[in-house]
Amino acid sequence: MASNPSRISLTRYLVEQQRNSAHGDDDTRGLIPAQLRLLLEVVARACKGISQAVNKGALGGILGSAESENVQGEVQKKLDIIANEVLIEANEWGGNLAAMASEEMDTIHLIPGRYPQGEYLLLFDPLDGSSNIDVNVSIGTIFSVLKKPEDHPGVHEGDFLQAGTQQVAAGYCLYGPQTTLVLTVGAGVAMFTLDREQGSFVLTQEDVQIPADTKEFAINMSNMRHWDAPVKRYIDECLAGKDGPRGKDFNMRWIASMVSDVHRILTRGGIFMYPWDKREPHKAGKLRLMYEANPMSWLIEQAGGASTDGRQRILDIQPSQLHQRVAVVLGSKNEVERVTQYHREAQAPAANA
Ligand code: AHG
Ligand code: MN
Ligand code: MN
Repeated sequence: MASNPSRISLTRYLVEQQRNSAHGDDDTRGLIPAQLRLLLEVVARACKGISQAVNKGALGGILGSAESENVQGEVQKKLDIIANEVLIEANEWGGNLAAMASEEMDTIHLIPGRYPQGEYLLLFDPLDGSSNIDVNVSIGTIFSVLKKPEDHPGVHEGDFLQAGTQQVAAGYCLYGPQTTLVLTVGAGVAMFTLDREQGSFVLTQEDVQIPADTKEFAINMSNMRHWDAPVKRYIDECLAGKDGPRGKDFNMRWIASMVSDVHRILTRGGIFMYPWDKREPHKAGKLRLMYEANPMSWLIEQAGGASTDGRQRILDIQPSQLHQRVAVVLGSKNEVERVTQYHREAQAPAANA
């Protein structure tokens, strides 16, 4: 099939973003130095490789458990480990990175001394939605890019502990009926669909915007009895439908891959919640700040949505640990603000107390 010259590939999109910055455009959005562009191309190439492996399924021997646990005590699937290795091997030798961190690795991965060191730090959840791998439901890879602080030589774990506002790129690749790469470099959200015949990601949507209102929520309802009062209040009101205080019926979706739930929200709006709950009260939440919440929160904000932990903006959280967990409420702005307001009201002392 002949290639269509009007199609914009990921490479061309990134080169144009880089040009904006080289021309010292007043528009400070989308400032991509060459090294960041190359790094994003390598991440995209790794995602293509993971997509191939996912597509093979049982024929590629990639299904099932690896019979090992990650640092968070979660049983690893074979594909968690394969995806992690693909990302490391692809990104190790290019000279763009100083180090990597992954949900599946205990500590940071330094770039071996035989390769040049770059300026960036790459963080990833190599395979999000692991429980869906074996049942052929959409899964994905989430990534976040930070700049290594310049005030000291070498790199250590503390260099990664930067708030989400410091991200210079973030995105995910969704392995579903289509393979879709979704990216922000701070100039809005762009979506690319993998053209398998050409082997390239093609721009299929730009300036993605999330409607401020929604009638669709995503939460694991089986945890209802463990939730805090503000979360229960919000969901009870949604469930009450037309006759309740919200005066409208709500729909529910829960795919159990954050990537897929966030993709639906970027496409048609909605609210996603993985709140703190009483099952493991010492944990702030289930999802991980650095590999899941920060990159997804930046994408959501770039598309006009909002993201909080129920109390504060996720991107403002100063991380204290690499594998830190956090409660997540993200999506359509007015709904996220409502949930956050319910938390504030629950915290406020009673008027006459
Ligand atoms: P991971 O597969 O990377 O561990 O992440 C799974 C996460 C997230 O993607 C999803 O929203 C959530 O866990 C699903 O949780 P439940 O199993 O409670 O539904
Ligand atoms: Mn995940
Ligand atoms: Mn994962």
